[in-house]
Amino acid sequence: MSRPIKAIFAGSFDPITNGHLDLIKRASKIFDELKVGILVNPNKKSLFTLDERKKIVNEVVKDIENVEVILFEGLLIDYCRKNGISVLVRGIRSSDDVNYELQMAHINRELDDEIETVILPTNVRYSFISSSLVKEALGFNADIHRLVPKCVLEELDKKNKSK
Ligand code: PNS
Repeated sequence: MSRPIKAIFAGSFDPITNGHLDLIKRASKIFDELKVGILVNPNKKSLFTLDERKKIVNEVVKDIENVEVILFEGLLIDYCRKNGISVLVRGIRSSDDVNYELQMAHINRELDDEIETVILPTNVRYSFISSSLVKEALGFNADIHRLVPKCVLEELDKKNKSK
């Protein structure tokens, strides 16, 4: 009997966007188990705290059976080794992402050649979305409701009300 294939889709998810969600849904159909890994990076200033991001991503993926949200720190490859994960899922939005993603795939393969990177092209509908642009748009009070899942908007609303 073959072993279940475990994959991880890692990132900062600050905030999770509709582009991320599309990739999570698609990757969850390819692999037996998919973890969404939120990087713990205390040095990076973020819009949402780690707990808020975990709560939001959990809410967004709650109906996808084989997806689990985790926090990780340090090397992604180390987390994968410890948890029997053999595939890193990454998305590319346009040719601009290709060089960076190839570099990441190469360094990760150098660190462990048993762990493969699988790169999925983003749905073209979401190819212009990034968490950084969402944050920039928010800074100008732009309407971002088509860019992020509803619960990101709800959490933002809560944040603004508590200010
Ligand atoms: O949201 P991002 O910027 O696409 O996420 C990048 C992420 C978190 C996947 C990447 O920076 C990462 O894996 N960081 C952990 C440290 C690591 O393993 N780096 C790659 C090898 S040096």
